[in-house]
Amino acid sequence: MLNDIVDVLADPVDLTPLRGEDDFARLVSETGHSYDVAKQGYVTLASGKGLNHEGDSLEMINSRETFLSNGHFAPFVEAVSDRVADVVERTSGDRDPVILEAGAGTGYYLAHTLDLIEGSRGVGLDISVPAAKHLAKAHPRLGAVVADAWEQLPVRTGSVDVVTVVFAPRNPSEFARVLVDDGEAVILVADQGHLDELRDPLGILGVEDGKVERLVDQASQWLTPVCDPELISFPMQLGRGAIAAQVGMSPSARHLDADVLKQRLEDLPEQMEVTARAQLIRLRKA
Ligand SMILES: C[S@@+](CC[C@H](N)C(=O)[O-])C[C@H]1O[C@@H](n2cnc3c(N)ncnc32)[C@H](O)[C@@H]1O
Repeated sequence: MLNDIVDVLADPVDLTPLRGEDDFARLVSETGHSYDVAKQGYVTLASGKGLNHEGDSLEMINSRETFLSNGHFAPFVEAVSDRVADVVERTSGDRDPVILEAGAGTGYYLAHTLDLIEGSRGVGLDISVPAAKHLAKAHPRLGAVVADAWEQLPVRTGSVDVVTVVFAPRNPSEFARVLVDDGEAVILVADQGHLDELRDPLGILGVEDGKVERLVDQASQWLTPVCDPELISFPMQLGRGAIAAQVGMSPSARHLDADVLKQRLEDLPEQMEVTARAQLIRLRKA
């Protein structure tokens, strides 16, 4: 809930601290800016110009919920949560550790991590309102924020033990600003070969070559690798319904004609083995 993490949040206009007012119906900053808390429990923290785009639609979020709740990506969620647990053992001391997930979607990863780490608190940030509605219900120690991860984050400087990003946008300069000195960004990026068995039959987008190297290079002014990237790869047995949900939650959902996709899904075998493949990257302040 937002009252668990309000001390981590900041006014998107000037980064001054926020406090709950009117029984947390609003968050108000030291400079007097006021942000209404939606009845579903999330808050939108955007400066006057508002948000530039919408993020995932309700349909994409529902597909994501369907796919993830069946445990198909369990090795991904376990790897991310375990690495975060390793980091906070070092960073947090007697404090309750704070984990910020950028592009948190339904909150599947963050909720799992909060379950694993006793007393930890989570900020789930996403630009999508349907995502934020899910996030607000995902875990009692999670606060949901609608904000743009590519802008200045509405988060206090040096307040976060670990920033996590799973298949979502990254903002290295802002991650470095919000992290505690020995904190880390734990980032999962799709690797070449991810969902490969589906690409030709469905005509879905591929993962471009050199993605990890480019990410590390682009972040290097602010963040530096802690270790080599860790490859996480495993086979999934997916039925047609799960494959439809996987496609529905991905950017391919926006690129494919619905009728064409439906026909291609019908042409697939009832069950098939599909590879999940990603690189886990750990970065600390440069
Ligand atoms: C591929 S989904 C991943 C969601 C979640 N991390 C997961 O793996 O289940 C990408 C998420 O990033 C969000 N997103 C896209 N652009 C964003 C931005 N500029 N700022 C914050 N979130 C953004 C989308 O709304 C979506 O929920």
